[in-house]
Amino acid sequence: MLSNQEPATGKRKSLHGHWSSRMAFILAVMGSAVGLGNIWKFPYIAGQNGGGAFVLVYLLCVVLIGMPVMMSEILIGRRGRRNPIATMTLLGAEEGSSRHWKFVGTMGVVAGILILSYYSVIAGWTVAYILKSASGVFVNATGETVSAEFGRFVGSWQLVVLAHTAFMALTIFVVARGVERGLEQAVRFMVPALLLLLFVLLIYSITSGSFGAGLAFMFTPDFGALTRDSVLAALGQAFFTLSIGMGAIMAYGAYLPEETSITASSGAVVIGDTSIAILAGLVIFPLVFANGLDPADGPGLVFQTLPLAFGQMSGGVFFSTIFFVLLSFAAWTSGIGLMEPAVAYLVERFHRSRAEAAVIVGGSIWLLGLATALSFNVLADFKFYKGTIFDNIDHLTSNILLPLGGLFIVIFAGWVMCRNSTAEELGGHGPLYRVWRLLARFVAPVGILFVFLKAVGLLPEFAA
Ligand code: PHE
Repeated sequence: MLSNQEPATGKRKSLHGHWSSRMAFILAVMGSAVGLGNIWKFPYIAGQNGGGAFVLVYLLCVVLIGMPVMMSEILIGRRGRRNPIATMTLLGAEEGSSRHWKFVGTMGVVAGILILSYYSVIAGWTVAYILKSASGVFVNATGETVSAEFGRFVGSWQLVVLAHTAFMALTIFVVARGVERGLEQAVRFMVPALLLLLFVLLIYSITSGSFGAGLAFMFTPDFGALTRDSVLAALGQAFFTLSIGMGAIMAYGAYLPEETSITASSGAVVIGDTSIAILAGLVIFPLVFANGLDPADGPGLVFQTLPLAFGQMSGGVFFSTIFFVLLSFAAWTSGIGLMEPAVAYLVERFHRSRAEAAVIVGGSIWLLGLATALSFNVLADFKFYKGTIFDNIDHLTSNILLPLGGLFIVIFAGWVMCRNSTAEELGGHGPLYRVWRLLARFVAPVGILFVFLKAVGLLPEFAA
């Protein structure tokens, strides 16, 4: 049970400081949400799963499941004001349930570490592509040359490991600097700049790509292409892209000032993040079709389509370099969020300094990441279950751990926490609150369970 020294929830303070404003919080969550998931992963996963129908299921998952999970995660975080493990322990007891809810926090910390281990490898590619773009190798490149260039790069384990090391070092550096000085500064200009560049690319893609074919691919649902794995992949992508289900948003919520509206902030982030993913798809698919590339090509998709487009544009070397700088920034601000739960935990639980904690966590993640780095070259033929080591870590985290974490989070917020606690955080019992509660209690849990059951084959198929 709680001791009576425990301050009333409204007076709790985070050990790590607070966001300086509501805008700072939105920027930080947006920075965590917008990343490789939108620009690298969304197009290739949509491509591998047949386009339109996948996009539709993904959008449904974002609105009906992603939004209530995000709101629940922020409200739990703000109420607990600690790292996700301690927050779940504290609130579990405070709401008259069990301290064992801490397993949700623990699972999140583990998921974050696993995700960052491969995220950092791909983010390393974007860092390397800054230099490649600047060197001019993509000027007037053809489909074959960009593919060959990509193959040569990921085929070299030395280069991939070097890039992964550089990215991890950058991430450790920002996390070590702490909430306000580190995180806020990084996101302030990155999201708007990235959006601007995507619009430049969109214009190029409308004028020079097969825009009609790209649009049709993304928005004509062919339910025959939707296997039970694609439904799970769509759910997993919704979680991944919104950074939910693993405590990153819970950790950020812990630094949120009392008066900020959770509903409005979540809405802004969900709309912003989804628009950027759709925009990226609208840029990439027309280029894929215009250049005879394969939409189901996998993780290399953006690293081939975009250099190709830039290579044919005037000022392409400049734009391409800037684009990969921005994408690296976007990945950087997401990497920070992936590390934050584990770092906050070490600081609070073992009284480490932030810098020490960042080095310990980051170093371990770097080591784990070697397995992914090698799975594109030396260990490329080492395949089991879903494919390479990278494929398996990705599947385990995005498609299983995140939705499972999200399921427990909405059950906790919707069923375990009492109405007054959640209403207090969400600004009263108004109509929006009731919609949230309906989604959190029924729609989201049933939706997640449905997709899980479907994926293990316990429900009938839509398609043969
Ligand atoms: N949302 C990030 C992206 O789309 C990835 C991420 C997942 C970040 C989970 C933090 C937590 O790239």
